[in-house]
Amino acid sequence: MQYLDQLNDKQKEAVLYTEGPLLIVAGAGAGKTKTITHRIIHLIHNGINPGSILAVTFTNKAAKEMRDRVLTLLEERVHGVSAPITHGSVPFVSTFHSLGVHIIKENAHLIGLTKHFSIIDEGDAISIIKDVMREHDIDPKQHEPRKIKSIISKSKGDFITLANYKGEVKSSQQSIVALIWGGYEARLKNEKGLDFDDLLLESVQILKKFPEIKNP
Ligand SMILES: Nc1ncnc2c1ncn2[C@@H]1O[C@H](COP(=O)(O)OP(=O)(O)OP(=O)(O)O)[C@@H](O)[C@H]1O
Ligand SMILES: [Mg+2]
Repeated sequence: MQYLDQLNDKQKEAVLYTEGPLLIVAGAGAGKTKTITHRIIHLIHNGINPGSILAVTFTNKAAKEMRDRVLTLLEERVHGVSAPITHGSVPFVSTFHSLGVHIIKENAHLIGLTKHFSIIDEGDAISIIKDVMREHDIDPKQHEPRKIKSIISKSKGDFITLANYKGEVKSSQQSIVALIWGGYEARLKNEKGLDFDDLLLESVQILKKFPEIKNP
């Protein structure tokens, strides 16, 4: 197979191993993306439907690079250099967060969310935190808004809900976080907004509750 000739032995081993999970750890520029993109081509070559392959990255830049490289390889392999590939027959390559947006949009009704939500970016989130603090006369010099936001983020990332957090409050700092978190969530709800953590959290909830959902 021609596409395998461009790989070194370790890369080839990773590409040919298709029975279950595989972790690849390698340094910057070591050829990780090359391995993953060739692994995708290898799966397709072995009859896997391209539309059922998912590749996720952390940054938009990495997603774009991965998508471009997969498409280039697919075009070379399937159609010759210039022919376009029809939509729907390509792997879904995106960031974790845009995959989250996609899953939530498709399935919002299942968990009582609206399809038309707004995404609250980090800057918006900090200004909401500051507003809530102002409403409660909490001094931003004593309780740094970014720090409060990162505690909330970290908790959401650990699947700790506001109710769980409230139940575990032990210090005055934690009770202030709980108070601000409450105001913050109320504002998000009111604006039909989801922050970056919610994009991951809500999509995980959807997949856990409805494991039969497939195909992003
Ligand atoms: N086996 C190989 N033979 C020749 N060139 C290779 C091989 N593997 C990777 N390269 C080249 O090395 C460069 C880095 O590869 P790649 O982008 O896949 O690495 P990476 O580990 O994903 O890098 P980064 O850490 O920057 O994401 C690319 O130009 C790629 O074409
Ligand atoms: Mg890479």
